[in-house]
Amino acid sequence: MSDAPPERKVVIGPDDAGERLVAPEETLDETTLGATLRPRSFDEYVGQTAVVDNLKIAIDAAKRRGEPLEHVLFYGPPGLGKTTLASLIARDLSSGMRTTSGPTLDKPKDLVGILTSLQAGNVLFIDEIHRLGGVVEEFLYPAMEDFRVDIVMDSGAYAKTYKIPVERFTLVGATTRAGMLSAPLRERFGLLYHLDYYSDEELQRIVTRSAGVLEIPIDADGAATIARRSRGTPRIANRLLRRVRDFAEVRAGGEITHDVADEALRREGVDGRGLDRLDRAFLRTIADQYRGGPVGIGAIAATLTEDTETLEDVVEPFLLKIGFVVRTASGRKVTADAYEHLQLAAPPESDAARQQKLL
Ligand SMILES: Nc1ncnc2c1ncn2[C@@H]1O[C@H](COP(=O)(O)OP(=O)(O)OP(=O)(O)O)[C@@H](O)[C@H]1O
Ligand SMILES: [Mg+2]
Repeated sequence: MSDAPPERKVVIGPDDAGERLVAPEETLDETTLGATLRPRSFDEYVGQTAVVDNLKIAIDAAKRRGEPLEHVLFYGPPGLGKTTLASLIARDLSSGMRTTSGPTLDKPKDLVGILTSLQAGNVLFIDEIHRLGGVVEEFLYPAMEDFRVDIVMDSGAYAKTYKIPVERFTLVGATTRAGMLSAPLRERFGLLYHLDYYSDEELQRIVTRSAGVLEIPIDADGAATIARRSRGTPRIANRLLRRVRDFAEVRAGGEITHDVADEALRREGVDGRGLDRLDRAFLRTIADQYRGGPVGIGAIAATLTEDTETLEDVVEPFLLKIGFVVRTASGRKVTADAYEHLQLAAPPESDAARQQKLL
């Protein structure tokens, strides 16, 4: 193994402060860069083939009938291409897209303003749609269903509802937390698509494509090495690529090969599976402090002085995905694979487990 020997100590607090290289969320400079690297057609969009195929069929059918596309909901972890797909839909429909997000739409007035200014066939993209306020959400229902907004003027006996028509539009919603979406809202989407983590091979294609766009010299092994450490996430793949490029330019003559990528990422604390210090601290906390678990997320969060939401949203999903952590009714447990990866000895069988076997 080329990775640095694991430190036995659980690194917490200040050592871990600062930006995570493998965080799936978008950083500010990536918002601009995203525009450069974002696929401009479905042909350039790598992976998620079932989603893309079904989406294309729905778009073609809507076009043939001359109707707007049904409302679409994308859900899945951050950085997998939800915003990208929304813009590809608008492009394919040859229509404009308005972009907004749940947290910014805090007054019904804002939403009504947007809805009434839409043109026929437009795509309205609402990111983080699970964070729409309840009142705002209720304005969305008649707009989605009957293309109108209901505005109530005055109150009591004089109350009057004005129904204002809106153009036939397509709402595209994106959320990382489908479970937090209210049932009435979820039911108003005709098309629901779950985005899953990408395979290493797909990520390798994405890295190769991005390197081409950014004119970075890279060989196949170099791209594969970055892909393997990108946690199934295109946004992370693109970020690691840029970080490795810096190292390649300053220390290694410019070209990204396996050795260059490996060395650059190891220096950044990103190991062979794409785990960083926080992931390893998470695993070690369970392994060392809680003898492998089961332990509640709250206790892990307290030990690591991290907030529960961060751990649940951006650390745990990938560890669950690669089978390093399992969730049981009584809490999180680390698996034998995780012990092996961290080069830790598995704990002696617990009394509870032994008893279970005897029963
Ligand atoms: N299938 C893909 N092929 C190539 N590049 C992709 C693909 N999906 C995403 N990307 C790249 O990854 C970046 C992140 O994608 P995007 O912003 O669409 O993710 P997201 O799912 O909207 O994330 P978030 O949940 O954080 O909003 C984009 O800038 C794009 O360059
Ligand atoms: Mg997005």
